[in-house]
Amino acid sequence: MNNRIFLALSSLTILANFAYAGSPPADAIRGKTLYKIYCTQCHGLEGDGYGINVADMEVLPRDHTETKEMKTRTDKDLFKAIKFGGKAIDKSVLMPNWDGNLSDRQIDDLVEYLRVLCCTKTGK
Ligand code: HEC
Repeated sequence: MNNRIFLALSSLTILANFAYAGSPPADAIRGKTLYKIYCTQCHGLEGDGYGINVADMEVLPRDHTETKEMKTRTDKDLFKAIKFGGKAIDKSVLMPNWDGNLSDRQIDDLVEYLRVLCCTKTGK
């Protein structure tokens, strides 16, 4: 390969990487890490709604593994619930809003992880 073609190809690759870094797809693995830090104390380590806080809660956190119920929510619904909290979706204020702590990117990752959680159990 002559040098000029090689250079042109390398810069194309670099450009492509930049474009990708601008909008990487939502990532369930990153979402899982965030979920463990911010969500499990209420929603449970398994996402089934039985976190350590539930003993004191009047409204139980959503069971994120419940496929049937979760399927009725769009990604947008879930995003809104996480970003603006329960009150934004006419649900309990016990579900906090996360817009002060999490970026939209991180919320997208969380939604992606919720989709993994809710579809692992079937027929429920
Ligand atoms: C302080 C406890 C608490 C924490 C922490 C918490 N949640 Fe919740 N969450 C709740 C409760 C309670 C509900 C149920 C509200 C209702 O049904 O009225 C809920 C509901 C939700 C819903 C709405 C589900 C539906 O029915 O549409 C989503 C989505 C959600 N939580 C995601 C998260 C994510 C993601 C995190 C972590 C970033 C998180 N929650 C952290 C308590 C919590």
